[in-house]
Amino acid sequence: MRKNEEKIKIIRSSLALQKNSKKMLAQGKSIGLVPTMGALHKGHVSLIKKSVKDNDITIVSIFVNPVQFGANEDFAKYPRRLLADAKLCGEAGASIVFAPQPNDMYPFPLQTFVHNPALESLYCGAYRPGHFAGVLSVVAKLFNIAAPSKAYFGEKDFQQLHLIRKMACDLNFPVKIIGAKTIREKNGLAMSSRNEYLSLEERVAAGSIYAGFLAAKKLHGQGVVSVAKLKSVVKEIIERASGKVQYVEIVNKNDLMPVRAKVLKKAVVLVACHFGKTRLIDHVEL
Ligand code: PAJ
Repeated sequence: MRKNEEKIKIIRSSLALQKNSKKMLAQGKSIGLVPTMGALHKGHVSLIKKSVKDNDITIVSIFVNPVQFGANEDFAKYPRRLLADAKLCGEAGASIVFAPQPNDMYPFPLQTFVHNPALESLYCGAYRPGHFAGVLSVVAKLFNIAAPSKAYFGEKDFQQLHLIRKMACDLNFPVKIIGAKTIREKNGLAMSSRNEYLSLEERVAAGSIYAGFLAAKKLHGQGVVSVAKLKSVVKEIIERASGKVQYVEIVNKNDLMPVRAKVLKKAVVLVACHFGKTRLIDHVEL
């Protein structure tokens, strides 16, 4: 057992974590927070390692947040394995795992939500009503509980990262939001806790998302700027591999607004699609 693994502390109460953070801050220690829903993989670990490098104390929260799941979504079946996750956190150098129960985070039904009306109903939000208000609200709570000076999020969830940055800026959270690159499988599939739902065949086929991105990037590099053309290339490649595309959108990198006809500034392709019953999201910068 390595040193940090022995030291990892699991805190289950938000009040206890809040007190602990206060104490750490009084001792002059810097706190990094990595919010997750657990079932940790190399993508999560890359965020934890970044935080460990930058901060005295790294808190990893592991909480499958009920308010960001729709009624017909996978809240009940979302993978949960706290002890294995805590071990990974320790190995990556984190100091604390915060693993509350839903009734600790929500002793009463939540009535106060953080909304971003301009962006919460676009792209993923159009297919997951209430999802982003649920994400922003729990992240706001986690910031208030853990009191980090830096918080780490993956670019993998591109719309989520943008919304969190905007929330932190709009509401003056004293937290620096750090984005981190998407970690991928060998075939280009972005790592995700939900990849566990995929059959072997689906996992191979889902590599087509990244293949679609590479094709679009290549075309764009050759001077193709037509949004319709670039979108259709990505869609066709995913569909040829039996994926069901929910949306392909090209958006401005800076404000996430849709690019209408031609890609002339920094833009990002956003995709959501299903392989079998599993919904996957990914993005690439053109
Ligand atoms: P979760 O899906 O567990 O992801 C936790 C963090 O890990 C997010 O910031 C996500 O973008 C990042 N991440 C996931 N896959 C990644 C990959 N392949 N490479 C790099 N980073 C990756 O996102 C959530 O949880 C929740 O919505 C949360 C923010 C915790 C709020 O409940």
